[in-house]
Amino acid sequence: MRALCWHGKGDVRVDTVPDPKIKHPRDAIIRITACAICGSDLHLLDGYQPTMEKGDILGHENMGEVIEVGSEVTNLSIGDRVVIPFTISCGECWFCQKGMFSACDRTNPNAEMASKAMGHSPAGLFGFSHMLGGYSGGQAEYLRVPMADVGPIKIPDSVTDEQALFLSDIFPTGYMAAENAQIEDGDTVAIWGCGPVGQFAIRSALMMGAGRVIAIDEVPERLAMAEAGGAETIDFSKADDVYDELMARTNKRGPDSCIDAVGCEASGHGAADAVLDKVKAATFLATDRVHVIREAIMSCRKGGTISIPGVYVGMGDKIPLGAAMNKGLTFKMGQTHVQAYTRPLLAMIEAGEIDPSFVVTHPASLEDAPEMYKKFRDKEDGVIKVVLRPDG
Ligand SMILES: NC(=O)c1ccc[n+]([C@@H]2O[C@H](COP(=O)([O-])OP(=O)(O)OC[C@H]3O[C@@H](n4cnc5c(N)ncnc54)[C@H](O)[C@@H]3O)[C@@H](O)[C@H]2O)c1
Ligand SMILES: [Zn+2]
Ligand SMILES: [Zn+2]
Repeated sequence: MRALCWHGKGDVRVDTVPDPKIKHPRDAIIRITACAICGSDLHLLDGYQPTMEKGDILGHENMGEVIEVGSEVTNLSIGDRVVIPFTISCGECWFCQKGMFSACDRTNPNAEMASKAMGHSPAGLFGFSHMLGGYSGGQAEYLRVPMADVGPIKIPDSVTDEQALFLSDIFPTGYMAAENAQIEDGDTVAIWGCGPVGQFAIRSALMMGAGRVIAIDEVPERLAMAEAGGAETIDFSKADDVYDELMARTNKRGPDSCIDAVGCEASGHGAADAVLDKVKAATFLATDRVHVIREAIMSCRKGGTISIPGVYVGMGDKIPLGAAMNKGLTFKMGQTHVQAYTRPLLAMIEAGEIDPSFVVTHPASLEDAPEMYKKFRDKEDGVIKVVLRPDG
């Protein structure tokens, strides 16, 4: 089959590789009809995520048609149209039973490696390094889905691929980010990053009762999409100081909640701390660029909440913990518990409360993927979200 493979920093290619096969009775094989490139894939492209190997197949936002099932997969039939959560979860362990699917204790065969780095191992993820399971991703013609009796959900014909696909990741991620922000009616929520995750966080925060959402980015078309979704915006490349701007707009109190939908590759636009982060990351003195976390801690109102959907991979430096502690902030974060959200969010799509396809700017074929990765990374050509069709 054809598949998008990682070959090193900045180097992804579409190669011909062996088709996946059922390896376990709980597996299913899916023929991918649509898959997407995520901001998390950029951390792999840019070489931030450790334990990638040449030839690894990327892609964790996947949907398609079931073409084969293992003997223990009784909930799916050949021909079903399904969306697949990016988190691989057993559904039975202590964490899955509590709905913490991204903390599943049983799906990372390389748990020891992850435990060394993090104290404990999170769930295995599709297409996301060997430390997180070494599972092949779905930017390919076919995908092996482990725990297929738990993850995939069937999609009714009335919902299109573009409407359903983001149930695999970014819609639940933006939604959980807004839940984690502990929004009360009328609250002001500041959201850093107007990429796809930020866009879903904006809309979710407003659906949860936020009075105002202030979205921060520097890319004009992303700011415009944020405004179309109901947010006020700050262009951080033009504002003298994001903190000052947020204080001016909130009567000096600061936002009630702050969401970091940027993650470890934050750009600082010349801010001294951000320049230092870049140098440290480049010289392996730190892995994560935490400029946005610093800004969020300083800006958040006393007793407020910081929600972090943005991915961090290792060590961040100079996080103002004293400010966070003395202001009494709450932090909530994590890889999304996707399986907990797929069904309720599908119901919202079916009820017409949200149409996730608004975020798609670039439909493309799988063969275009390497070019699309670079355009998405460099924010060229107005790219906000790329959807790849292996059969298109
Ligand atoms: N928690 C999860 O389960 C989960 C799931 C999906 C994605 N993610 C993470 O969410 C983050 C966003 O994903 P995405 O697909 O939207 O990525 P993206 O790269 O398209 O968006 C990031 C946006 O942040 C903006 N940005 C950079 N520096 C900034 C700054 N200093 N202030 C404000 N904005 C800034 C960029 O211009 C860009 O528009 C990534 O870190 C991704 O890995 C997490
Ligand atoms: Zn993702
Ligand atoms: Zn589990």
